[in-house]
Amino acid sequence: MNKKIKKILNKKNKSKIICLTSYSKNIAEEADKCADIILVGDSLGSVLYNHDTTKKVTLTNMIDHSKSVRLGVKKSLMVVDMPYKTYSSTKTALKNAKKIMKETRCDAVKLEGGKEIIKQIKLLIKNKIPVMGHLGLLPQTNKGKFKSKGGTDKEKKQLIDDSLLLQKSGVFSIVLECVKTSTANSITKELEIPTIGIGSSVYCDGQVLVTDDLIGLNQTNIKFVKKFLNVKKYISSGLRKFASEVRSKKYPSKKHSY
Ligand code: KIV
Repeated sequence: MNKKIKKILNKKNKSKIICLTSYSKNIAEEADKCADIILVGDSLGSVLYNHDTTKKVTLTNMIDHSKSVRLGVKKSLMVVDMPYKTYSSTKTALKNAKKIMKETRCDAVKLEGGKEIIKQIKLLIKNKIPVMGHLGLLPQTNKGKFKSKGGTDKEKKQLIDDSLLLQKSGVFSIVLECVKTSTANSITKELEIPTIGIGSSVYCDGQVLVTDDLIGLNQTNIKFVKKFLNVKKYISSGLRKFASEVRSKKYPSKKHSY
């Protein structure tokens, strides 16, 4: 087993797992200093390309951004999202996952769904491709607004069953997105593998957020996003200083000229 995956598994019930998204080298370098997992999420579709859904993200988008991220990740486990429709059959899933692994040199891939994609997940794992699961709100197939999952007995049972099924198939962890607190708590207690929550309470074994959201680079009002920094303020201040010095001919000085 990949040493980095073993390290993640060993954190269960000991210390929290930190997962951050990254779409490029420079953010990845910083994220790598404090994260256990760096996820090249297909959220890049909405964050970088203004798509209204992650359905429009292509395999080429994911591979190109992942190649850049790879340059910045030294110690964390690097996981790449398989985009919508790239794993609709076992054959396409294997072909595309192999391509992602080979071209990006990532450590694992992430797929959204439970029972309905279990054949694909099993085949990838059989082919030694590590898989991270994703349950709860599934942005690739979600219709309508952001809505929590696991609030009814039926949904709770479905999520617990899916989690156990994913674990049995060999996934090394599961992202739980917008899952109700008590359901996320039950799943986390039930599983031997770690759960990584996003809007799914403190009871998960780890937490993931979109880095651009938490540093205030991307404007969003999603309930689970806490803004830890207003990085836009600093960017804007630096850019304004540049513009002002160019206009006043202070820059470039002799020091910055050949
Ligand atoms: O696409 C993404 O960034 C994700 C995380 C938010 C879990 O899947």
